[in-house]
Amino acid sequence: MSTRYRPPVQARVYVPAAGEAPDVELMPAGDVTEGVVRVGETIRRPHQPQSLAVGGYLDWLEDAGFDGSPRCLGRDTEGRDVLSFVPGRCAEALPEAWVQSEELLASVAGLVRRLHDASAGYVPQAHPFPPRAMPPSAVRPDPTDLICHLDVTPQNVVVREGLAAGLVDFDLAGPSTALRDSYNAAMHWVPLRAPADAWPGWERLDPYRRLRIFADAYGWDREERRRVPGLAIDAAALGYERMHHNAATLDGGWARMWAGGVGDLILRRRDWLEANAQRLEDALLG
Ligand SMILES: Nc1ncnc2c1ncn2[C@@H]1O[C@H](COP(=O)(O)OP(=O)(O)OP(=O)(O)O)[C@@H](O)[C@H]1O
Ligand SMILES: [Mg+2]
Repeated sequence: MSTRYRPPVQARVYVPAAGEAPDVELMPAGDVTEGVVRVGETIRRPHQPQSLAVGGYLDWLEDAGFDGSPRCLGRDTEGRDVLSFVPGRCAEALPEAWVQSEELLASVAGLVRRLHDASAGYVPQAHPFPPRAMPPSAVRPDPTDLICHLDVTPQNVVVREGLAAGLVDFDLAGPSTALRDSYNAAMHWVPLRAPADAWPGWERLDPYRRLRIFADAYGWDREERRRVPGLAIDAAALGYERMHHNAATLDGGWARMWAGGVGDLILRRRDWLEANAQRLEDALLG
């Protein structure tokens, strides 16, 4: 258990450490959240509707002894969320060659597994997660039983000495299942995308081999491995609907991503997954 005194998340006010570095460093921009900055050993982010729910989850992870997530330090005098800075390096928007390491891929799977183990049993009380925007026609997902990250992209994993050491950006965290969250991480990290959409320098990687590495390192059992190709296709269909819905109903980044062609990219992924479902299953089970 933590020994640090922690007021409830909604009342937590960040008091700067004596002599805290006043310099502000702009963090690489993601797709949605604007104005993420580093101040000394902290990260400041705009306060969001899900911030208190995320704070409660980060407290739980801290108490569970999980060392791969930022600490929720409260809000600063400008009302921004304050999180501890997790030292290391994250990938750029177009992931660099060093991100291809198979050791790193396996360590991401291991980190997600540790997150899931630490998350087991967490039921948000004071601050539930706001329901995720869901188009009315959306494919019904499985019942949810685990609070998890749901956005384990290369830009949201902090790497130290070539291995995944931390997860940041819990904006999409909420109830789902371990299989969905781990599949989503694999999708981003293998990555599973149509060959035409490979990142520059990533064209020659073998997605089947990389998916198997992820599966072994996370520890999907045979039943889960059998389910993954079908779940992947469903996830692409749901992802397309959700993106479309968010682009139409939320502002800023979602509409920008849609205009940038993310919908077509997801459809090309879905087609590729459908065409190669058997090969994916063979790679997972062979
Ligand atoms: N707690 C942290 N410790 C270290 N680095 C961080 C932390 N939080 C964010 N960063 C860095 O800042 C970058 C942007 O922050 P973050 O991922 O939280 O926002 P975003 O990607 O802009 O948001 P969104 O994904 O919602 O658009 C990250 O990719 C990472 O490089
Ligand atoms: Mg991010």
